[in-house]
Amino acid sequence: MTHNKATLTYGDKTLELAVREGSIGPAVVDIGPLFRDTGMFTYDPGFVSTASCESKITYVDGDEGVLLYRGYPIEQLAFNGDFIETCYLLLYGELPTAAEKTEFDHQITRHTMIHEQMSRFFSGFRRDAHPMAVMVGTVGAMSAFYHDSLDLFDPKQRMVASLRMIAKMPTIAAMAYKYSIGQPFIYPLNSLDYSSNFLRMCFAVPAEDYVVNPILSRAIDRIFILHADHEQNASTSTVRLAGSSGANPFACIAAGIACLWGPAHGGANEAALNMLAEIGTVDRIPEYIARAKSKDNPFRLMGFGHRVYKSYDPRAKIMAETTHEVLNELGIGDDPLLEVAMELERIALTDEYFIERKLYPNIDFYSGIILKALGFPTSMFTVLFAVARTVGWIAQWKEMIEDPSQKIGRPRQLYTGAPQRDYTRLDDR
Ligand code: CMC
Repeated sequence: MTHNKATLTYGDKTLELAVREGSIGPAVVDIGPLFRDTGMFTYDPGFVSTASCESKITYVDGDEGVLLYRGYPIEQLAFNGDFIETCYLLLYGELPTAAEKTEFDHQITRHTMIHEQMSRFFSGFRRDAHPMAVMVGTVGAMSAFYHDSLDLFDPKQRMVASLRMIAKMPTIAAMAYKYSIGQPFIYPLNSLDYSSNFLRMCFAVPAEDYVVNPILSRAIDRIFILHADHEQNASTSTVRLAGSSGANPFACIAAGIACLWGPAHGGANEAALNMLAEIGTVDRIPEYIARAKSKDNPFRLMGFGHRVYKSYDPRAKIMAETTHEVLNELGIGDDPLLEVAMELERIALTDEYFIERKLYPNIDFYSGIILKALGFPTSMFTVLFAVARTVGWIAQWKEMIEDPSQKIGRPRQLYTGAPQRDYTRLDDR
């Protein structure tokens, strides 16, 4: 590979391909002309070596454990800023001034209520439905309620749709939870900040006052900041792919929520907690470690490993610290599940199998512990991830729509099925 070109030789053909440098991170070989010039595709299942787009939003360095939103290290944002500021940063590219922050706070706060008719939508679901199923359905249904922000070619409508989604997602998530436990919906309260309002909508009941604990709302806010974006992960790529066809923003976010639900992605926090409950006691950990290591067993330790982070997940580090703050505040120290979690973390960090494969506890391992301590049932964990990731999905969707070179995403394949053959009539088979 030369500095700005890569040369591909195949049989008697040679092709020079442009190499494009990013501001930081790996360069890319632009293989756009490959099919036109050689009749070949590239093959990269799981996209392990493929950059699917150009983006200015989030940067991840998996070897060094770095995560930047618009250039700012995640640690600085998580410890100094708040989630609404992070939303502004991801959407607009810069941190807000004090006046911009006040105005943005106001705009989000004024969009938190949902169309009253939408609240009746929930009663169509079974009470025992998984809240992620309810999220996919109700967020998709937003397309049927907010007709005045569906035109993705109108920048003003795009922004209204973006604000609506960031603002309404906690309301919808809290309603999904309240519906599942048979309690009345709690309307948003404009005097509260985003995360306090979310906690109140989830845990208040009309029969008594609910006072938000600032340490706990700060922990939720931090979870939201840490989950806000993560470049071209599976759900974000899903949102971009759905959006590339011109689908409306609410439909695209519903597609992202569906993808996030999977246990290899956002569903891992729920799966991690379920696994800890299944292990139950510290003495059973070796059995699970042995299963995770066995070549003949597909079992994996949920909440461990990451496709990109191969040194440590910087979000997990912050989350580990927040976990201890929350547990101290709530006076939970001797929870058996927590004991299992801490022992599992210790073993995995010192065991050769995990060290060799660079498998570390990921963010979902710790966020699950915090959310359980706050009183959320495991089925709600991925819902909270969806609330936080909405701004990332929206920012990435907007960036794609505003990119003049954007075209419909349409991957190709290596076909290994039957070659062309003739149909035989039913009687002749
Ligand atoms: N437990 C035991 N072994 C594992 C694990 C695990 N959690 N993860 C990977 N391995 C092993 C795997 O068996 C393979 O071993 P070998 O080389 O002997 O065949 C090696 O590590 C490499 O695994 P891989 O499947 O090539 O890695 P990947 O980059 O494709 O997978 C992952 C990444 C996150 C899907 C995977 O680590 C996993 O399934 N983890 C559990 C689920 C989880 O916690 N997901 C949350 C990810 S963070 C939040 C998010 O992205 O939404």
